[in-house]
Amino acid sequence: NEIKIFSPATVANVSCGYDVLGFCLDTIGDEMVVRKTDRKGIYITKIEGYDLPLDATKNVAGVSALAMIADAKPNFGFEIEIYKNIKPGSGIGSSSASASGSVFAINELLGRPYNKTQVTDFAMKGEALASGSEHADNLAPGIFGGFTLVRSTSPLEVLQLPTPKDVYATIIHPQIEIKTSDARAILPKTFPLKDAITQWANLGSFVHALHTSDYELLKRSLQDVIVEPHRSQLIPHFAEVKLAALAHGALGASISGAGPSIFALSKGIENAKNVEKAMRNVYSKTSIAFETYVSKIN
Ligand code: HSE
Repeated sequence: NEIKIFSPATVANVSCGYDVLGFCLDTIGDEMVVRKTDRKGIYITKIEGYDLPLDATKNVAGVSALAMIADAKPNFGFEIEIYKNIKPGSGIGSSSASASGSVFAINELLGRPYNKTQVTDFAMKGEALASGSEHADNLAPGIFGGFTLVRSTSPLEVLQLPTPKDVYATIIHPQIEIKTSDARAILPKTFPLKDAITQWANLGSFVHALHTSDYELLKRSLQDVIVEPHRSQLIPHFAEVKLAALAHGALGASISGAGPSIFALSKGIENAKNVEKAMRNVYSKTSIAFETYVSKIN
Protein backbone atom coordinates (compact mmCIF):
# COMPACT_ATOMS: atom_id res chain seq x y z
CA ASN A 1 0.00 0.00 0.00
CA GLU A 2 3.05 2.22 0.04
CA ILE A 3 5.96 2.59 -2.34
CA LYS A 4 9.21 4.55 -2.19
CA ILE A 5 10.76 5.48 -5.51
CA PHE A 6 13.82 7.24 -6.92
CA SER A 7 12.92 9.57 -9.76
CA PRO A 8 16.10 10.35 -11.71
CA ALA A 9 17.42 13.60 -13.14
CA THR A 10 17.58 13.67 -16.93
CA VAL A 11 19.24 15.64 -19.71
CA ALA A 12 16.94 16.77 -22.54
CA ASN A 13 17.77 17.92 -26.07
CA VAL A 14 21.30 16.43 -25.97
CA SER A 15 22.56 19.05 -28.41
CA CYS A 16 21.18 17.88 -31.76
CA GLY A 17 17.76 16.63 -30.53
CA TYR A 18 15.73 19.60 -29.31
CA ASP A 19 12.51 18.39 -27.66
CA VAL A 20 13.02 14.78 -28.79
CA LEU A 21 16.27 13.33 -27.44
CA GLY A 22 17.11 12.73 -23.78
CA PHE A 23 19.09 10.57 -21.38
CA CYS A 24 18.80 9.46 -17.79
CA LEU A 25 21.36 10.03 -15.01
CA ASP A 26 21.75 7.37 -12.37
CA THR A 27 23.20 9.26 -9.42
CA ILE A 28 21.00 12.35 -9.01
CA GLY A 29 17.25 12.33 -8.46
CA ASP A 30 14.29 12.95 -6.18
CA GLU A 31 12.72 10.48 -3.80
CA MET A 32 9.02 10.08 -3.35
CA VAL A 33 6.83 8.05 -1.04
CA VAL A 34 3.34 7.35 -2.34
CA ARG A 35 0.67 5.55 -0.31
CA LYS A 36 -2.94 4.54 -0.78
CA THR A 37 -5.45 6.34 1.37
CA ASP A 38 -9.18 5.84 1.94
CA ARG A 39 -10.11 9.38 0.95
CA LYS A 40 -10.33 9.71 -2.80
CA GLY A 41 -8.11 12.20 -4.59
CA ILE A 42 -4.45 13.24 -4.57
CA TYR A 43 -2.92 14.77 -1.45
CA ILE A 44 0.62 16.10 -1.34
CA THR A 45 1.36 15.80 2.34
CA LYS A 46 5.01 16.76 2.50
CA ILE A 47 7.67 18.42 0.34
CA GLU A 48 11.26 18.63 1.56
CA GLY A 49 14.17 20.29 -0.18
CA TYR A 50 12.54 23.15 -2.05
CA ASP A 51 9.55 25.39 -1.54
CA LEU A 52 6.87 24.08 -3.92
CA PRO A 53 3.06 24.16 -3.73
CA LEU A 54 1.32 21.44 -1.71
CA ASP A 55 -1.93 22.05 -3.61
CA ALA A 56 -2.14 19.09 -5.99
CA THR A 57 -3.65 21.21 -8.76
CA LYS A 58 -0.65 23.57 -8.66
CA ASN A 59 2.10 20.99 -8.28
CA VAL A 60 3.40 19.10 -11.34
CA ALA A 61 3.43 15.80 -9.40
CA GLY A 62 -0.17 16.43 -8.39
CA VAL A 63 -1.37 17.42 -11.85
CA SER A 64 0.02 14.29 -13.50
CA ALA A 65 -1.34 12.12 -10.68
CA LEU A 66 -4.80 13.73 -11.00
CA ALA A 67 -4.74 12.99 -14.75
CA MET A 68 -3.97 9.34 -14.04
CA ILE A 69 -6.68 8.82 -11.42
CA ALA A 70 -9.23 10.66 -13.57
CA ASP A 71 -8.68 7.85 -16.06
CA ALA A 72 -8.17 4.90 -13.67
CA LYS A 73 -10.99 5.93 -11.29
CA PRO A 74 -9.80 3.97 -8.24
CA ASN A 75 -12.19 3.98 -5.25
CA PHE A 76 -9.40 5.23 -3.00
CA GLY A 77 -6.85 8.06 -3.17
CA PHE A 78 -3.11 8.65 -2.79
CA GLU A 79 -0.85 10.64 -0.49
CA ILE A 80 2.44 11.82 -1.90
CA GLU A 81 5.60 12.85 -0.04
CA ILE A 82 8.26 14.50 -2.17
CA TYR A 83 11.93 14.69 -1.15
CA LYS A 84 13.40 16.97 -3.78
CA ASN A 85 17.10 16.86 -4.51
CA ILE A 86 16.92 18.30 -8.01
CA LYS A 87 16.75 22.06 -7.83
CA PRO A 88 13.81 23.52 -9.78
CA GLY A 89 15.01 25.48 -12.79
CA SER A 90 18.39 23.74 -12.93
CA GLY A 91 17.95 22.21 -16.38
CA ILE A 92 18.22 18.57 -15.38
CA GLY A 93 14.56 17.73 -15.39
CA SER A 94 13.40 18.79 -11.94
CA SER A 95 9.73 19.25 -12.88
CA SER A 96 9.88 16.15 -15.02
CA ALA A 97 11.16 14.02 -12.12
CA SER A 98 8.20 15.17 -10.01
CA ALA A 99 5.66 14.75 -12.81
CA SER A 100 6.84 11.27 -13.75
CA GLY A 101 7.63 10.02 -10.23
CA SER A 102 4.07 10.36 -8.93
CA VAL A 103 2.46 8.56 -11.86
CA PHE A 104 5.14 5.87 -11.99
CA ALA A 105 4.49 5.13 -8.30
CA ILE A 106 0.68 5.24 -8.59
CA ASN A 107 0.79 2.89 -11.58
CA GLU A 108 2.78 0.42 -9.46
CA LEU A 109 0.28 0.68 -6.57
CA LEU A 110 -2.61 0.14 -9.00
CA GLY A 111 -0.98 -3.09 -10.22
CA ARG A 112 0.50 -1.61 -13.42
CA PRO A 113 -2.59 -1.06 -15.58
CA TYR A 114 -0.60 1.33 -17.82
CA ASN A 115 2.49 0.71 -19.96
CA LYS A 116 5.51 3.04 -19.92
CA THR A 117 4.24 5.11 -22.83
CA GLN A 118 0.89 5.66 -21.11
CA VAL A 119 2.65 6.59 -17.85
CA THR A 120 4.74 9.13 -19.80
CA ASP A 121 1.58 10.51 -21.38
CA PHE A 122 0.04 11.24 -17.95
CA ALA A 123 3.33 12.76 -16.78
CA MET A 124 3.20 15.16 -19.76
CA LYS A 125 0.13 16.80 -18.20
CA GLY A 126 2.21 17.75 -15.16
CA GLU A 127 5.22 18.82 -17.22
CA ALA A 128 2.99 21.16 -19.24
CA LEU A 129 2.15 23.05 -16.04
CA ALA A 130 5.84 23.82 -15.49
CA SER A 131 6.97 24.61 -19.01
CA GLY A 132 3.82 25.75 -20.78
CA SER A 133 4.11 23.07 -23.43
CA GLU A 134 3.73 19.32 -23.69
CA HIS A 135 7.08 17.75 -24.44
CA ALA A 136 8.44 14.47 -23.19
CA ASP A 137 12.19 14.62 -23.76
CA ASN A 138 12.91 14.68 -19.99
CA LEU A 139 10.00 12.43 -19.01
CA ALA A 140 10.73 9.59 -21.43
CA PRO A 141 14.33 8.89 -20.32
CA GLY A 142 13.22 9.10 -16.66
CA ILE A 143 10.58 6.44 -17.21
CA PHE A 144 12.25 4.23 -19.85
CA GLY A 145 15.91 4.74 -18.76
CA GLY A 146 19.02 5.25 -20.91
CA PHE A 147 18.69 7.30 -24.10
CA THR A 148 15.23 7.88 -25.57
CA LEU A 149 13.83 9.56 -28.64
CA VAL A 150 10.30 10.94 -28.69
CA ARG A 151 9.12 10.47 -32.26
CA SER A 152 5.74 12.04 -31.57
CA THR A 153 3.91 13.51 -28.57
CA SER A 154 0.42 13.16 -30.03
CA PRO A 155 -0.03 10.26 -30.11
CA LEU A 156 2.95 9.67 -27.86
CA GLU A 157 5.61 7.39 -29.33
CA VAL A 158 8.88 6.82 -27.47
CA LEU A 159 11.86 4.89 -28.83
CA GLN A 160 14.32 3.43 -26.38
CA LEU A 161 17.85 3.76 -27.78
CA PRO A 162 20.92 1.75 -26.81
CA THR A 163 23.67 3.30 -24.66
CA PRO A 164 27.27 2.52 -25.67
CA LYS A 165 28.84 1.02 -22.56
CA ASP A 166 31.57 3.63 -21.98
CA VAL A 167 29.52 6.80 -22.31
CA TYR A 168 29.51 8.99 -19.18
CA ALA A 169 27.90 12.34 -18.55
CA THR A 170 29.39 15.32 -16.74
CA ILE A 171 27.04 18.08 -15.60
CA ILE A 172 27.85 21.51 -14.26
CA HIS A 173 25.03 23.46 -12.68
CA PRO A 174 25.72 27.18 -12.22
CA GLN A 175 23.37 28.52 -9.55
CA ILE A 176 21.34 30.86 -11.69
CA GLU A 177 17.74 30.17 -12.60
CA ILE A 178 16.39 30.00 -16.14
CA LYS A 179 12.68 29.44 -16.61
CA THR A 180 11.95 26.88 -19.31
CA SER A 181 9.12 29.06 -20.61
CA ASP A 182 11.56 32.00 -21.03
CA ALA A 183 14.17 29.81 -22.70
CA ARG A 184 11.50 28.60 -25.13
CA ALA A 185 10.18 32.10 -25.79
CA ILE A 186 13.54 33.43 -27.04
CA LEU A 187 13.78 30.88 -29.85
CA PRO A 188 12.93 32.04 -33.37
CA LYS A 189 9.78 30.56 -34.88
CA THR A 190 11.44 29.77 -38.22
CA PHE A 191 14.92 28.59 -39.19
CA PRO A 192 16.88 28.55 -42.44
CA LEU A 193 16.51 25.27 -44.30
CA LYS A 194 20.29 24.79 -44.38
CA ASP A 195 20.36 24.77 -40.54
CA ALA A 196 17.49 22.30 -40.40
CA ILE A 197 19.42 20.01 -42.77
CA THR A 198 22.54 20.18 -40.59
CA GLN A 199 20.47 19.45 -37.49
CA TRP A 200 18.58 16.41 -38.77
CA ALA A 201 21.75 15.02 -40.33
CA ASN A 202 23.41 15.23 -36.92
CA LEU A 203 20.42 13.79 -35.05
CA GLY A 204 20.18 10.82 -37.42
CA SER A 205 23.94 10.27 -37.14
CA PHE A 206 23.83 10.49 -33.36
CA VAL A 207 21.18 7.77 -33.17
CA HIS A 208 23.23 5.62 -35.57
CA ALA A 209 26.32 6.19 -33.41
CA LEU A 210 24.43 4.97 -30.32
CA HIS A 211 23.43 1.79 -32.16
CA THR A 212 26.94 1.10 -33.45
CA SER A 213 28.91 2.38 -30.40
CA ASP A 214 30.77 4.63 -32.84
CA TYR A 215 32.34 7.19 -30.50
CA GLU A 216 33.93 9.22 -33.31
CA LEU A 217 30.58 9.60 -35.07
CA LEU A 218 28.97 10.46 -31.73
CA LYS A 219 31.53 13.24 -31.38
CA ARG A 220 30.92 14.64 -34.85
CA SER A 221 27.14 14.52 -34.36
CA LEU A 222 27.02 16.41 -31.06
CA GLN A 223 26.35 19.79 -32.64
CA ASP A 224 23.38 22.10 -32.30
CA VAL A 225 22.93 24.87 -34.87
CA ILE A 226 19.28 25.50 -33.94
CA VAL A 227 18.89 26.14 -30.21
CA GLU A 228 22.32 26.53 -28.61
CA PRO A 229 23.28 29.72 -30.51
CA HIS A 230 20.23 31.47 -29.00
CA ARG A 231 20.06 30.01 -25.51
CA SER A 232 23.78 30.11 -24.79
CA GLN A 233 23.47 33.87 -24.25
CA LEU A 234 21.44 33.12 -21.11
CA ILE A 235 24.29 31.15 -19.54
CA PRO A 236 27.32 33.09 -18.32
CA HIS A 237 30.66 31.61 -19.53
CA PHE A 238 28.93 28.96 -21.64
CA ALA A 239 31.45 29.20 -24.49
CA GLU A 240 34.41 28.85 -22.13
CA VAL A 241 32.91 25.85 -20.35
CA LYS A 242 32.18 24.13 -23.64
CA LEU A 243 35.67 24.83 -24.99
CA ALA A 244 37.25 23.61 -21.76
CA ALA A 245 35.24 20.37 -21.90
CA LEU A 246 36.19 19.71 -25.53
CA ALA A 247 39.86 20.56 -24.84
CA HIS A 248 39.88 17.98 -22.03
CA GLY A 249 38.58 15.09 -24.03
CA ALA A 250 34.77 15.42 -24.08
CA LEU A 251 33.00 13.96 -27.10
CA GLY A 252 30.69 16.97 -27.03
CA ALA A 253 29.06 19.50 -24.74
CA SER A 254 25.95 21.64 -24.85
CA ILE A 255 23.12 23.05 -22.75
CA SER A 256 21.25 20.53 -20.61
CA GLY A 257 17.55 20.97 -21.35
CA ALA A 258 16.60 24.63 -21.11
CA GLY A 259 19.71 25.38 -19.00
CA PRO A 260 21.49 26.73 -17.05
CA SER A 261 23.16 23.33 -16.54
CA ILE A 262 25.71 22.35 -19.16
CA PHE A 263 26.39 18.69 -19.95
CA ALA A 264 29.28 16.93 -21.63
CA LEU A 265 29.49 13.35 -22.83
CA SER A 266 32.78 11.48 -22.58
CA LYS A 267 34.14 8.05 -23.32
CA GLY A 268 35.14 6.47 -20.01
CA ILE A 269 34.87 7.70 -16.45
CA GLU A 270 38.42 9.08 -16.36
CA ASN A 271 37.69 11.44 -19.24
CA ALA A 272 34.37 12.41 -17.64
CA LYS A 273 36.21 13.31 -14.42
CA ASN A 274 38.86 15.35 -16.29
CA VAL A 275 36.07 17.20 -18.04
CA GLU A 276 34.47 17.85 -14.63
CA LYS A 277 37.72 19.45 -13.40
CA ALA A 278 38.03 21.57 -16.53
CA MET A 279 34.44 22.80 -16.23
CA ARG A 280 34.86 23.58 -12.52
CA ASN A 281 37.99 25.62 -13.30
CA VAL A 282 36.00 27.98 -15.48
CA TYR A 283 33.36 28.79 -12.86
CA SER A 284 35.90 28.80 -9.99
CA LYS A 285 37.28 32.00 -11.46
CA THR A 286 33.87 33.70 -11.23
CA SER A 287 31.57 34.64 -8.35
CA ILE A 288 28.89 32.20 -9.55
CA ALA A 289 28.26 29.24 -7.23
CA PHE A 290 28.02 25.86 -8.97
CA GLU A 291 27.92 22.13 -8.48
CA THR A 292 28.99 19.27 -10.71
CA TYR A 293 28.05 15.63 -11.19
CA VAL A 294 29.54 12.72 -13.10
CA SER A 295 27.11 9.95 -13.90
CA LYS A 296 26.70 6.82 -15.89
CA ILE A 297 23.74 6.86 -18.26
CA ASN A 298 21.31 4.25 -17.09
N1 HSE B 1 13.17 20.32 -24.57
C1 HSE B 1 12.84 21.19 -23.49
C2 HSE B 1 13.43 22.55 -23.78
C3 HSE B 1 13.41 20.65 -22.22
O1 HSE B 1 14.61 22.59 -24.11
O2 HSE B 1 12.73 23.54 -23.70
C4 HSE B 1 13.16 21.48 -21.01
O3 HSE B 1 11.90 21.23 -20.48
